[in-house]
Amino acid sequence: MQKTSQNVYDYLYQKEGQAPWTFEEPPEELAKLVESGMIKSCKTLDVGCGEGYISTYLASKGFDVTGIDISSNAINLAKKHAAKRGVKCKFMQMEWKQLSKIKDKFDFILDWRFLHEVANDKEREVYVNLVSNLLKRRGTYLSVAFSGEFKKWGKGKLRKSPIGTILCLPHNRDLEKLFAEDFDIIKKSMIKLQQKDLPGGVTSYFFLMEKRN
Ligand SMILES: C[S@@+](CC[C@H](N)C(=O)[O-])C[C@H]1O[C@@H](n2cnc3c(N)ncnc32)[C@H](O)[C@@H]1O
Repeated sequence: MQKTSQNVYDYLYQKEGQAPWTFEEPPEELAKLVESGMIKSCKTLDVGCGEGYISTYLASKGFDVTGIDISSNAINLAKKHAAKRGVKCKFMQMEWKQLSKIKDKFDFILDWRFLHEVANDKEREVYVNLVSNLLKRRGTYLSVAFSGEFKKWGKGKLRKSPIGTILCLPHNRDLEKLFAEDFDIIKKSMIKLQQKDLPGGVTSYFFLMEKRN
């Protein structure tokens, strides 16, 4: 079988909790934004939602969440986790390139450890444009993904992940340029994303933004 992103992820999501990035508890940087009221419950899109734990956390706080992921196994697990937590979310198997099919507009879009999956520069521009089109004016965009400051998996911008996918690990200046056209940056920082098989975590960037128009 050809090794596509979809079947790499479907393989990993055959069993719940198997993916090294899946954690039931929300990441503390996100929980802080929600618990402090900096991001209030609103209509939300979670891109690359995986097993849906972030979506279901937000739903438990009153957010109206749609989650999309390329992997149908991930979406099935996300639905199961929402039922287990007694929350309602809308989960759809969808590749990011199909985002234009969504007719709703959102107040908040997050892609938590997802943007590095879009390895091609032109495609990253298309992706950010789709996100912008789906956001309401002054909507919030939170993008958290791996950074070029991370010292493993090779060198340079394109790296091969342990699961064989090609990831884009850019520098912050590249990201600022990518986001600059449509977004004002409210907060940016470097964080370590937890990963079960990497004790030090993965050096990542955190961009909290507001859509300009
Ligand atoms: C590193 S995981 C992060 C999952 C989740 N956000 C989390 O933090 O647990 C990246 C996710 O992006 C999904 N993904 C990869 N390529 C995709 C694509 N082209 N379109 C939509 N989702 C994709 C994968 O299936 C995977 O669930």
